[in-house]
Parts: sequence; structure tokens; C-alpha cells
Amino acid sequence: MVGFSLHSLPASTVLLTYLLSYPTLAASQSYVLDTSYSGATFFNGWNFWSSSDPTHGFVQYLSQSDAQAASLIHQSPGFPAYMGVDHTTTLNSSSQGRKSVRIESQKSWTHGLFIVDVAHMPDSTCGVWPAFWMYGPNWPNSGEIDMIEGINRNTFNQMSLHTAPNCSMQAGTQSGSVNSLQCDGTQNDGEGCNVASNNGYSYGTGFNAKGGGVYATEWTSSYIKTWFFANGSVPSDITTGSPVPSGWGTPQTAYIGGSTCDIDSHFMNQNLVFDMTFCGDWAGNAWSGDSTCSALADTCVDYVAASPSAFSETYWSINSVKVYQLLTSASSSTSTTTRKFLISY
Ligand SMILES: *[C@@H]1O[C@H](CO)[C@@H](O)[C@H](O)[C@H]1NC(C)=O
Ligand SMILES: *[C@@H]1O[C@H](CO)[C@@H](O)[C@H](O)[C@H]1NC(C)=O
Ligand SMILES: *[C@@H]1O[C@H](CO)[C@@H](O)[C@H](O)[C@H]1NC(C)=O
Repeated sequence: MVGFSLHSLPASTVLLTYLLSYPTLAASQSYVLDTSYSGATFFNGWNFWSSSDPTHGFVQYLSQSDAQAASLIHQSPGFPAYMGVDHTTTLNSSSQGRKSVRIESQKSWTHGLFIVDVAHMPDSTCGVWPAFWMYGPNWPNSGEIDMIEGINRNTFNQMSLHTAPNCSMQAGTQSGSVNSLQCDGTQNDGEGCNVASNNGYSYGTGFNAKGGGVYATEWTSSYIKTWFFANGSVPSDITTGSPVPSGWGTPQTAYIGGSTCDIDSHFMNQNLVFDMTFCGDWAGNAWSGDSTCSALADTCVDYVAASPSAFSETYWSINSVKVYQLLTSASSSTSTTTRKFLISY
């Protein structure tokens, strides 16, 4: 845009009159592709987490070279990227845990539209805790947005947010069931705010049976919304790479900010994450409350250590991850108007 000040015009100022097809000052915003991960180059741009699991899972996260050597990841042109776990080795319950991967994007974003096209996710099996999510520095001060997550035999996706104190969301129009709108991670046993999907294709075994699907999360200063589209129901504007969330109908989750949660002071600079852990703070603690799982072994760790073949379907197969950012541009119109510009030399 041309910027100028009217109160200090120098001598050499001319008044130019333009005849332009440039009708109004109204601007339109659309999402344009910022970053895409897919195919043979899917893993470029991610760091492999090989430290201990911050969520205290029975897991050993491998470096990229170790994961590649152990066939826990693979990638090739035109195929979904694979991330799996060791499903052949019987372990000692006292060991560090089952081999797996956790990757984090090197890039981070504030706001945007995050679209993941998933061919297969870890199935609904006792002991597992997979997630696709994002978080920012100095957790929880820069917030956490969980897009795909569940544990054990869950069949519905749960979408949560975690923040520092003073973030309680409003519920927007959404298809999911609100469990909590209190995102402050220091309350409610650290559960954060969370909404559960009612769509039987949204997670795990049901998701895979349908042939996967697409999750899209839109994060603005005003709201954080997540849509789910099962295989066969993905809007064409997503497939063609020109996504327009306003045309997608009711989201599964709609967290609306405002006076009780200023989104921009609680969510920033977030990196994307895929992981697959076992037991730990959520799946492990929920073990005794799940009668089907707890009938398999006394503890989650004992089961995961002794039952490698239970995890042959514990893998992500990702067609693509695409991050879009809003681009503001002048709206186009056919009407012609005369505009005057002052140009100073
Ligand atoms: C499992 O590991 C513990 C601790 O290292 C060891 O004492 C125990 O003998 C191991 N058990 C088996 C069956 O190898
Ligand atoms: C939370 O809000 C209260 C009231 O506005 C304020 O006193 C307090 O400092 C805030 N806490 C944080 C961690 O921002
Ligand atoms: C996924 O969707 C496509 C297109 O609608 C369909 O042909 C295919 O059968 C679906 N896959 C499964 C496993 O349902």
C-alpha cells in the first residue's frame, strides 16, 4: 500500500490522478500455502525427539537414523509417510519402553490453517496413546492445541487445549460434546479444555476402517476450530489446495476466545508434533478404569512389554501436512473509479 502524510508536504509534490479498476478499500483474505510435507521429502523439516518422554510413557523414542534403520519410518515419492513402533520385540517391564517415534516441525506458527490428510492412524488398542498436536515455547505459556488424540480403546477423537492460567473459552457452534472449557493446565488435573467428537470415524479403528480422513484446524485471534472429514467426504477446496473454512459447515470443535481468554496472549509460536507413546500420564493412569484393558494385565506397562503383536496397527500413515496462512489482498471488481494520489519526491 502507498503510505503518505498530509501534514508535511515538501515543495516537489505532485498530484496524480489515476483511472483504475480499483473500486473500494475492501480487502479479501484467503489462505495460501505456507509449508507442505509429503511423499519422499515428508521428514525434511522435522526434528526427531530422542529424549525421554515428557508424558512418562513406556517408550523409547528413536533418532531419525535409528528409526530409519529399524524400519520405524519410511517415505517414498507418491506414497504416504509411515511412522510406526516396534511390534515384534517382547520387552522387560523394567526397560525404558517400546521403540517409537516422535517428530516436531522445525517451523513454528502463530495463527493459520493446519490440514493433515491421514491414511491410517494408530488403532484403538489397550496401551496406546497417539497424538497429532502443536505447542509453543515455555509450556504451557505459549499454549498447546491437540488436534487428534486418544488412548486405549477410545473410538472418538478428543480435541483439547492447554494454557497458562486465565483462559476459559466460550463454546461456539460445534458438533462435538464439550467436557470442559477451562484450558488452564493448573486446574482440573491438567485436563485442559476438551471436546469429544461424536463421529465414529473420527479416531482409531473406526477412522482406519473408513480409509482415514482429513483434520483441519483454523487458529485465529478470535477462535480455534477443528473440522473432521472422513475419507470420501473431504471438501473439494481442500483437495485442490484452496481451502475456505467458512464453507465447511459446523466444526467438531469451536473454542471461542474473548474476555475470558485472550487467544493471542495464550497461544503463539507453535510447532507441530506427531507421536505415539504407551501408558504414561494418560493411557497408563486410565488403565485400571478400563475393565477390558485391565483384564489383560495388572499394569499397562506389563501389557505393552509382553504383547508386541498387539501393536502391528500402531502406526501413522500420512498423505500430507499442509500449513496455510491468511493472505490479505484487494478485492477484485469490474467497476472503474478515479483515484488521486499525492506523490512526494
Ligand atoms: C528385567 O529387568 C530387571 C532390571 O534390569 C532385572 O532385574 C530382571 O532380571 C529382568 N527380567 C527378565 C525376565 O529379564
Ligand atoms: C489472571 O487474572 C487475574 C485477574 O485479572 C490477574 O490478577 C492474574 O495476575 C492473572 N494471572 C495470570 C497468570 O496471568
Ligand atoms: C475411501 O474413499 C474412497 C472415495 O470415496 C472410496 O472409494 C474408498 O472405498 C474409501 N475407502 C474405504 C476403506 O472405505
